[in-house]
Amino acid sequence: MILRNTIRTLRATTSFYTSPRTYFSNPISNIFTRNLSTAVSKRLNGKTVLITGASSGIGRSTAVEFARQSPESLKIIITARREERLNELAKEIKKEVGEGVKVFPVKLDVSNTAEMDAFMKKLPDEFRDVDILVNNAGLVKGIARAPHISPADITTMFTTNTLSLIHLTQTILPTFLSKNSGTIINIGSIAGREGYPGGSIYCATKAAVKTFTDALRKELIATKVRVICVDPGQVESEFSVVRFGGDKEKADKVYEGCEPLTPEDVAEVVVFAAGRRENVVVADTLIFPNHQAAATVMHRKNS
Ligand SMILES: NC(=O)c1ccc[n+]([C@@H]2O[C@H](COP(=O)([O-])OP(=O)(O)OC[C@H]3O[C@@H](n4cnc5c(N)ncnc54)[C@H](OP(=O)(O)O)[C@@H]3O)[C@@H](O)[C@H]2O)c1
Repeated sequence: MILRNTIRTLRATTSFYTSPRTYFSNPISNIFTRNLSTAVSKRLNGKTVLITGASSGIGRSTAVEFARQSPESLKIIITARREERLNELAKEIKKEVGEGVKVFPVKLDVSNTAEMDAFMKKLPDEFRDVDILVNNAGLVKGIARAPHISPADITTMFTTNTLSLIHLTQTILPTFLSKNSGTIINIGSIAGREGYPGGSIYCATKAAVKTFTDALRKELIATKVRVICVDPGQVESEFSVVRFGGDKEKADKVYEGCEPLTPEDVAEVVVFAAGRRENVVVADTLIFPNHQAAATVMHRKNS
């Protein structure tokens, strides 16, 4: 009893919820505690993470969260079309966590198959052995309903959200299979679980992601490769601005009377899933803000 109370006190007064950096420099906590943060840090140590759509929102926050959780030794490949944003992010991460995390920014349009194929070949040797793939790049275009949905928008959404995700997964998978290890985290959506009016194509692209993910997990059952889907509900990022073709006013209306999730909220779940023991697969996660209970069931203040 006395020992248990002593350990409790030590946990409370040392670093029960501290950063990995603080933990490693604190010998008392090393003896008495092994907490969530330190376990994740240890498991991610030395890994290489590849994130698509890292120039904004969830992808950007995921890169930062990985770096924060494993500052001692980590490699992160960040990709998107907006190269300047990636370069800025690389600098920010370095400034925050130091030299332990190596960030490699790559301009990559996932909807361009030739670029995708060239991309892996261009990676420097030290970044080639990817351990964690976060398929995050994605977008929604407009709110048109059939039969008025533009064929170009249909192609863009399917190419970006679904076909590129499948293509990149197939590109990385041989590496994972050869070492019998690796983690694939696909960012789906509540939209992939239930269709809503004005989002039929986006919903269909994300439903395809969900089904592909489920089938892949089954196909890889005899391997140690983990296949994970994270489905966010409403998140405030550039997502709605893109949906409304850059019209910020329209985008802001989506969140009126609501407190949406932040990209960081989703990033924490992604890194949590990646940071489990290899035998633990957080297969399927649906994340809502408190006022949301389905794609269109949303409580708004003053409504
Ligand atoms: N926000 C939400 O409410 C919500 C909810 C559920 C799921 N999601 C999903 O979460 C993921 C991230 O979205 P977000 O909310 O973070 O939106 P966001 O802030 O708009 O970020 C989207 C990211 O995808 C990248 N991207 C788009 N098209 C691309 C292309 N052709 N090639 C390469 N990268 C591309 C963008 O980079 P560039 O423009 O620089 O290329 C950007 O980095 C998406 O898959 C989205 O469907 C979002």
